This record gives sequence, structure tokens and C-alpha cells, in this order.
Amino acid sequence: MEKYLIGPFTQIVTMANLPIKGALSDDQLEIIKEGGLIISNGKIQQVGLFNDLRIVANTENIPIQFIEGKNVCLPAFVDCHTHIAFGGNRANDFAYRNAGKTYLDIAAAGGGIANTVSHTRALTEQELVDIIVDRSAYLIAQGISTIEVKSGYGLNVAEELKLLRSIQKANQITPANLVATCLAAHILPKDFKGNAEAYLNTIIEELFPIIKKEKLTNRIDAFIEKSAFSPSEIAPYFNKAREIGFDITVHADQFTTGGSDVAIAFDAVSADHLEASTEKEINILAHSDTVAVALPAASLGVGCAFTPARKLLDAGASLAVATDWNPGTAPMAQLVTSASILATMEKLTNAEVLAAITFRAANALRLKDRGILMNGLKADFIVYDADNYQNITYLQGCLQPQSVWINGQLKYA
Ligand code: NIG
Ligand code: FE
Repeated sequence: MEKYLIGPFTQIVTMANLPIKGALSDDQLEIIKEGGLIISNGKIQQVGLFNDLRIVANTENIPIQFIEGKNVCLPAFVDCHTHIAFGGNRANDFAYRNAGKTYLDIAAAGGGIANTVSHTRALTEQELVDIIVDRSAYLIAQGISTIEVKSGYGLNVAEELKLLRSIQKANQITPANLVATCLAAHILPKDFKGNAEAYLNTIIEELFPIIKKEKLTNRIDAFIEKSAFSPSEIAPYFNKAREIGFDITVHADQFTTGGSDVAIAFDAVSADHLEASTEKEINILAHSDTVAVALPAASLGVGCAFTPARKLLDAGASLAVATDWNPGTAPMAQLVTSASILATMEKLTNAEVLAAITFRAANALRLKDRGILMNGLKADFIVYDADNYQNITYLQGCLQPQSVWINGQLKYA
């Protein structure tokens, strides 16, 4: 079906005409009651009242896809931070943390990310492709159509390449749109102990040219933390990445500060985590175009503070929320549940939560063609069996989409 009218929807929450930064109130949301969408070749051609669009459909002989009962239509969600390309499981770390050890203790003892690296290295590229496709299907069922996927559990040129190529291959198979990110600077691999510069130079010299040549990604991430890389170790790496034309994104201020300063210095598209951010970091992020990405599932997985989302929005920052799905800190993999919990803890409006998982998350990936139901944008949308959009956060993820449409095609029901 190349072109069709779909509806009637009890409510369409378009997410149109909202600012990219700052606090939002629910009365700013554009809600079309008894609405419809005309979809043409995977894009939205028209959004409006179903009865008006029905006249257009009848005149132009456009088929109609009827939606039964009470229902709410929204743009599909964007998960702008995941690590779904991994092997193994870290239930043991979770148990250790709940028994009193910290994430940094476990990392210092050689566990944590290093453990997942061994399990991930043991997988073939094809096994990783299958894992990524399966995990993407799990996210699609939650209404997510665009998924950022980081490498970072390879930690040498060959293994990081295996991860990035498996993401590229999985992208050809899954109906979701995968956006790859190179996180070779996740931690310093054991064989380079004490020599971050040599490791990062190897990545620059040997991995970056292949990434460019094979168009594996245009995004470079680094984990700035006591257990990972310091701001001064990362500066030359990011300088080089910027010089080549890569976008920068940063794991910043998760347990200690320092990462936000780096994000701002390198004009990062996003600074993610920010659980430890203070007024100073909140202020610099708010005065930048860097999207602040909260990862509440990681706060729940680690048992630490939530990202100061309320303060960030009030200061004027752009806030996105993502799952951070990874085996170490964020195994729950629930976008709406974790965003809704962040909303109750941080006092976020529905408009702020929905913006954070639609167009503001898309902007964290520099994608301007999705996250809003508007003429000309991608026809990625979700339908919920509900009479009011407020139920989405109210039910904290227990309300699952009735159907998920990607590029105008039904991909989950
Ligand atoms: O986003 N903080 C660094 N990276 C991941 C954790 C990775 C891991 O512990 O395996 C995160 O929380
Ligand atoms: Fe992460």
C-alpha cells in the first residue's frame, strides 16, 4: 500500500511546534481529536481531521485503513543510547552491587565492562547480528523505530570492527533504523594498561579510516570516568575525530564530573548520563546545543541518583531519555517504564517525557526527519489502545502499543 489514509484516531499527539530546548507544559501539546494521517511512500503527506481527510481520500481514490475503538496515535519513539551489541550477562555484578560493592569497585577489580568484552569477543559477527536483530524487535514492540547502537565491547581494532559491521548488517534486516556509534573508548583494554594514548592512537590510525571507508558510523563516543578515560586523555582523540568530521557524543558525569566540560568543549551532539552533574554542569549544558540524555534505567540498575532532569529543563537544556540497554548498568530495556519513573521522581510533564523520547531524542542523533507527525516527515508512528495519551506515562510502560508502523508499514501488532 503506497498511499493510504489511516484513522480515525481518538487523539493524535503530533509533537509539532514545540521548542527543542527547555521546559514544556502539557497544554503546549497539539492534540488532534478524531484525527487521521495520509501516508504516501513511507512519509506523512497530511495530518488532520479524519472526516476532512476522508473527503480527500474519496476524491483521490486513496484506500482507507480503519482503526477500531478508542486509540491514541503518536510518533514512534527514538532510543538514542543503547549498547545492545553485547554477549553474556552481568547478574553477578548486580548482586555484588546490592551486597554493597560499587560499580567503580567492580571495575577496579577487573570486572564490569571487561567481563562483557570477553563474552562479546567470543561471539561471531553473525551471532552478533542475530542478537542485535532480536533486541531491536524487543524495542520495536515498545514503539521504538530508531535505535542508536554503540560498539564498545570489542576494545581492539578487529573486535570493534566486528561490532560495527554487525550493527550495519543488522540494520539491513531489522525494520528499525539503527544508528551506529563507535565507542572504542569505553575503557582502556588490559593490554594497554597505563598507556591510554597508545590505545587511542591505534584506534585513530587503524580504525577511523576503515570506519570512514565502510561508512560504519559518523559518531564517536567516549566514557569519561575514573574507571575509563580522563578529559585530558580524551581531548586529542576527540580533536582528531572532529578533524575527520565525526560527530561527538559523551558518556558524561555518570559517577564523577568532568565529562560535561569535554562535551561542551567538543560541541558534542549529546552528553549522556549526567547523574553526578552539579549546578555548574547543568548551566553549561543549558547554554549549549548539546542534548542532555538521561538514562533512568541505569540509575535503577546501579541504584544511584537520577539525572537532574527537572533542573536541566528549567535551566533551558534539551532533555532526551534513552534505555542505555547494556548488561552492566541498565539491563531492564524499558524506555517508557524508565522514562515514566524519571517523570515521577523528577516531576516532568507528559510533554517533557514525550518530547524526550521523540523529537528531542532524534535531535540527539542529528535526525530531523522523525519524532514529529508532520507533513514530509517519516511515517513512523504508534497506536495505543487508550482514550487519552496521559495513560502512557500513568501506566508506567504497562500500556503496550497496539501497533507500530515504520516507514508507513505495519511492523508490530
Ligand atoms: O552507559 N557508562 C558506561 N557505559 C555503560 C555501562 C557499560 C557497562 O557497564 O557494561 C553505561 O552505563
Ligand atoms: Fe551507555
